[in-house]
Amino acid sequence: MKEFLMTDEDFSSISQRVYETCGIVLGPHKRDMVYSRLARRVRANGLTSFAEYLALLNEEPNTEFSHFINAITTNLTSFFRESHHFDFLHQQVIPELKIKHRTDKRIRIWSAGCSTGEEAYSIAMTIANAFPTDWDVKVLATDLDSNVLHKGQEGVYNSASVTGLDSEHLKKWFMCSSDGTQYKAKDVLRSRVFFKRLNLLEPWPMKGPFDVIFCRNVLIYFDKETKDRLFDNYHQLLAEQGYLFIGHSETMGKEHLGFKNLGKTMYQKVAQI
Ligand SMILES: C[S@@+](CC[C@H](N)C(=O)[O-])C[C@H]1O[C@@H](n2cnc3c(N)ncnc32)[C@H](O)[C@@H]1O
Repeated sequence: MKEFLMTDEDFSSISQRVYETCGIVLGPHKRDMVYSRLARRVRANGLTSFAEYLALLNEEPNTEFSHFINAITTNLTSFFRESHHFDFLHQQVIPELKIKHRTDKRIRIWSAGCSTGEEAYSIAMTIANAFPTDWDVKVLATDLDSNVLHKGQEGVYNSASVTGLDSEHLKKWFMCSSDGTQYKAKDVLRSRVFFKRLNLLEPWPMKGPFDVIFCRNVLIYFDKETKDRLFDNYHQLLAEQGYLFIGHSETMGKEHLGFKNLGKTMYQKVAQI
């Protein structure tokens, strides 16, 4: 017997609100996950059922809604996850960008759906020292979930989170707490990354162009229509010959003629759609 009643109608209202707000599709197989993540919010608000919780969301959307969305998002990430993207960035993309931007000296990379920042900091570590100091090099890191953005901005990770970093990276870019359990990204690394809240389904304030966009393990939660719309938008915001990296289980349909598939979930903008 579960602590709170969640009817079929409650689950379908929750799924509908999540889909409309942030594009995440919650099929019937996600029902237990939704229950356990939102039961915390039902309890925190002193309520006794999901029907009461849904009523609260309607009555006080400003106070509870961000907790609701933050509870639903899946934020699994790690440093140098899918490391071939960072190898490609280092070996192929950086040398190209050095030539391409030798006059304007401006490099922009976007981590879209950055979660707690490991992806954005991995990009920043990869591009650090690659460009002369008078170049304007920035990593934009965006996510819908305000909790993960806050953690990314703080740049503090526990020892389990930094297992993907070798000792050289750790020493160079992080400060270890006196008890050895926490690692804080040094200011020199944090100053390269700009965290901003952005729902990918809402209008994007950035004008671009971006040289590289990472949107990895985010599209997996969306339906084809949303994914196609995002691919079109990424195409528009990418510089000519810019790169798009997606997650290991994600694909782009063949109909996106504006991208050349480079294999290993890497794409390059080839022409206007
Ligand atoms: C599994 S994490 C992926 C993190 C990182 N990109 C990686 O591959 O390790 C997915 C992230 O996408 C974010 N997300 C989901 N829907 C979103 C939306 N509509 N707009 C912006 N971010 C979204 C979630 O909050 C979550 O932090």
